[in-house]
Amino acid sequence: MKGPERVLSGMRPTGRLHLGNYLGALDNWVRLQADYECFYFVADWHALTTEVPEKGEIQQNVIEMTADWLGAGLDPERSTLFVQSLVPEHAELHLLFSMITPVSWLERVPTYKEMVEQLGLDSPSYGLLGYPLLQSADILMYRTRWVPVGVDQVPHVELTREVARRFNHLFGPVFVEPEAKLTAIPKVPGTDGRKMSKSYGNAIYLADPPEVTIPKVKTMVTDPARKRRRDPGNPDVCPVFDLHRIFTPEAPRAEVAQGCRTAAIGCLDCKGVLLERLVPPLDQIRERRTRFVEAPGRIREILHAGSARARERARETLAAAKVAVGIV
Ligand code: TRP
Ligand code: SF4
Repeated sequence: MKGPERVLSGMRPTGRLHLGNYLGALDNWVRLQADYECFYFVADWHALTTEVPEKGEIQQNVIEMTADWLGAGLDPERSTLFVQSLVPEHAELHLLFSMITPVSWLERVPTYKEMVEQLGLDSPSYGLLGYPLLQSADILMYRTRWVPVGVDQVPHVELTREVARRFNHLFGPVFVEPEAKLTAIPKVPGTDGRKMSKSYGNAIYLADPPEVTIPKVKTMVTDPARKRRRDPGNPDVCPVFDLHRIFTPEAPRAEVAQGCRTAAIGCLDCKGVLLERLVPPLDQIRERRTRFVEAPGRIREILHAGSARARERARETLAAAKVAVGIV
């Protein structure tokens, strides 16, 4: 009998996760655990491609992010949770792939061009150019069938497929071609109405306690045309209502929308209804997360055990790749 299909995904350890990260990726990762054999990892080498970190910053971020993962419900009993740099085979496979990957394939990757422009780099690093190829090694190492990612990462999965095909063509069949499993990402606005993002300073974090979340929601921007309490509003242009669409069930949500359109309720009432739906699930995540943060040794233990397990698989794949290439 064939076992469940394998899923793999990774996140760079850039700090605490916010509600946008949760709804855009993590929540989906948690759900996939029910039907797939899941590998989730901290892409710490990838975090070095765009900045020089402060001392200890990456390790701190690894702990914080893993606490968010565990708080949200990733289960180390069911999923393999690991750290990229604890499985150095990724680097070796990346090196082998670098020998068969034309530079032009990497120069064409849209995220590379965007990064170079965004950061105004006049001399981008070799590592930045190779970023998606390291990602290919991450994915192909585990004979991954599905890669749950957002649309921005699709070109990286496409490159991965091309690399797998080229390797198999040149050296014989070793790698499985993966596919992106697109995550339906709801619109998650931040407190200023723009997309929720750490760099905008508009985020609600999974680590935020209610005394932080509640004022963030209470001061969140609303329909800008609704200036006074007696002005009717339009939920369709209101970022608060976008959160209602995610958290508030149909019936009370329709009631809120109606109340807004007729000025029967004020924005603070509307936000109160939202908070009733938003705070409990966030509390559950945060409480679980806090228990782990208070025991960082336990987090490290989970990551080391997961990395050891991942490494066994990685060794097998790398050995097969080296035999195929003919260097062992
Ligand atoms: N590039 C991904 C991102 O920025 C992170 C990542 C690294 C990844 N390696 C991966 C995602 C392998 C999926 C599979 O989000
Ligand atoms: Fe937005 Fe709610 Fe205010 Fe309407 S009542 S403008 S939906 S916050």
